[in-house]
Amino acid sequence: MTASERPARPAPVDMHTHPFLTGVFAPQREEVDVADLSVAGEIPDDLAGSYLRNGPNPRFDPIGSYVYPLDGDAMVHLIRVEDGRVSYSNRFVRTPMVVAEEAAGHAIWSGITDGYTPPASEVGDELAGTMRDLPDINIVRHGGRLLAMAEADRPYEISPADLATVAKTDCDGAMLVGSTAHPKIDPATGEMVLFNYALEAPYLTWAVVGPDGHTTRKPTPVDGLDAPIMVHDMALTSRFIVLFVCPLVFDIAAMLRGGSLLAWQPDRGTRIALIPRNGDPVRWVDTDPFWVWHVANAFDNPDGTVTVDYVEWTYPGGFADQPRPASSELVRAVVDPDAGIGKTVVSDAVVDMEFPRVDDRLLTRDHRRIASVARAAGDTGQRESLWFHDLAAGTETVWTPGVAVGEPIFIPGAGHDYWGTIGTDPADLRSRFYLLDADAPADGPIATVDLPIRVPAGLHGAWLPAEP
Ligand SMILES: [Fe+2]
Repeated sequence: MTASERPARPAPVDMHTHPFLTGVFAPQREEVDVADLSVAGEIPDDLAGSYLRNGPNPRFDPIGSYVYPLDGDAMVHLIRVEDGRVSYSNRFVRTPMVVAEEAAGHAIWSGITDGYTPPASEVGDELAGTMRDLPDINIVRHGGRLLAMAEADRPYEISPADLATVAKTDCDGAMLVGSTAHPKIDPATGEMVLFNYALEAPYLTWAVVGPDGHTTRKPTPVDGLDAPIMVHDMALTSRFIVLFVCPLVFDIAAMLRGGSLLAWQPDRGTRIALIPRNGDPVRWVDTDPFWVWHVANAFDNPDGTVTVDYVEWTYPGGFADQPRPASSELVRAVVDPDAGIGKTVVSDAVVDMEFPRVDDRLLTRDHRRIASVARAAGDTGQRESLWFHDLAAGTETVWTPGVAVGEPIFIPGAGHDYWGTIGTDPADLRSRFYLLDADAPADGPIATVDLPIRVPAGLHGAWLPAEP
């Protein structure tokens, strides 16, 4: 291909008007390490660990297009708590694309929906024709690795000491074909269980990494799919991987005709895959169409059924032409591999509920508490409330701090437990870390930490207890 035939580099995205490049979403380009942050209230002396959070954060002003949350580079934020003191660090995950763009001083790769890839003359043979790596969704620590997770791709290992990028990894082969950004770690066995979807058959695989970081099950096909589908999250029980296979289908032919890559095909219904961890055949349960981004948790019942708590959407907003806006509610489903699914709505009181989390030590087992983030009714801006659902008591309480808050993360302490989140005030764009008492989260934070720089609104994170 000659230079005149080569597609031109796409035009810059307007940084001043794009809703996900301005305000609380505006990219953060500074990287800092600041100790002894100012704290209002008190950080418990016995709390020791790190709160990490990932999210899209383009290293340079994007070119072509910018689709949230698909595009961006990864920035990892680290809030370290020790002896009642708090420090903050942040770093880009330095993928080869970020490194090449830093050498050039501007964006080279376009948004992933553009179809443009840079030529060898600009990035060398190895990177020519590649898409941008996007390990910007989640953070997972397992088997001696700290992983910045991507969607249906291999993650990047980063250094817990200084957040330096180590390398893209397949975790000893388990993630050879890629991984969900939401693998689950079984607290009882220490195993990390994951799935991956792909555009070509087999469309779905699953794999297991042992507690020592070695792969114990290589990518294994899931039988029963006839098309490539998108599945974002999974649940894990002692016996099963639980996948909501909703009818959001990759349609490559439509994309080549200039249409959308993803098609909502509700006639297919939603299918729940119960994938036995012992390798037995997959059990499929069919039900009416709905969409799931995130699950809270799941567990086995003595009668052989599986209980799973998740946020159910009427359809995936942004991916389907529907007459009404997509709506969500927190649902408890009991899935019987022989008899189907029974559902109970846990909470439908809020708008755009998402990011349901439990105490991660209770994954695969019954849990009492779920926290989620939602918009207050009538609000048109960012998500601004945390909701706390007590399933045993049948109650829910809310904390609305008046700032845009992110995913709540459960923080187990030595004698007491907490929820933590990062929020940014849309008025002055100051970011803070909030620590809430898990027994009375709606009372507001017991400690509020002023972060030294703005943390862009982002995606998922984790609390990593200090390792002995
Ligand atoms: Fe997610």
